[in-house]
Amino acid sequence: MGWVLDVERINSVLKEIERRASSGRYFFPIIGPVKGELLYAFTLLAQPLRVLELGTGIGYSALQIARALKPGAKIVTVDADEENADEALDNLRRAGVEDLVTVIVDEAGRYLQNDKSIYDMIFMDIEKSRYLDLLEDCISRLRPNGILVADNVLWPELRRFRQAIMTHPQLASAIIHIEDGVSLSVKKL
Ligand SMILES: C[S@@+](CC[C@H](N)C(=O)[O-])C[C@H]1O[C@@H](n2cnc3c(N)ncnc32)[C@H](O)[C@@H]1O
Repeated sequence: MGWVLDVERINSVLKEIERRASSGRYFFPIIGPVKGELLYAFTLLAQPLRVLELGTGIGYSALQIARALKPGAKIVTVDADEENADEALDNLRRAGVEDLVTVIVDEAGRYLQNDKSIYDMIFMDIEKSRYLDLLEDCISRLRPNGILVADNVLWPELRRFRQAIMTHPQLASAIIHIEDGVSLSVKKL
């Protein structure tokens, strides 16, 4: 028998991170349960084999993606902050998905410069000033029909990013007005 995800174990770590991330003494920005469910649904629909996440945080969104993956699929997740990456790794281990997620400590732009792999899905959730800078690199790393999902896209500072994804000749994009916004862009054939 092949590898089976322990969905209950993943869900319990997700709940634990939600509680921790919103507690007064320890706040950490995560995509949260509502947009997290949307990310999970996008992943179920796309059935990606190779996923790139930019902005691991403490592993919450990687777990939302991981619980939708089919056997053989893998996530590479990149974060510039070593402490966050360590905590993410700990959470991924406790959820039992450490074999399908590779956590890399690097700046997202530098990682994209050096890694020339092609992905079926990219999730972007880093500092907002970098979204537009990294858009072309993300598109070039997506296979045709691959998807780019970006968090927080209703933030005022992402106005130019919104414009770019909505008018880009290689993308079909939609902005979903849930909480502070999530975008979905499909790379056209
Ligand atoms: C909002 S948190 C990510 C939350 C995570 N995606 C989730 O929903 O659970 C943003 C993370 O991106 C990292 N980050 C910000 N700018 C970055 C950059 N240019 N390159 C790599 N990581 C970056 C931060 O260290 C932080 O851990």
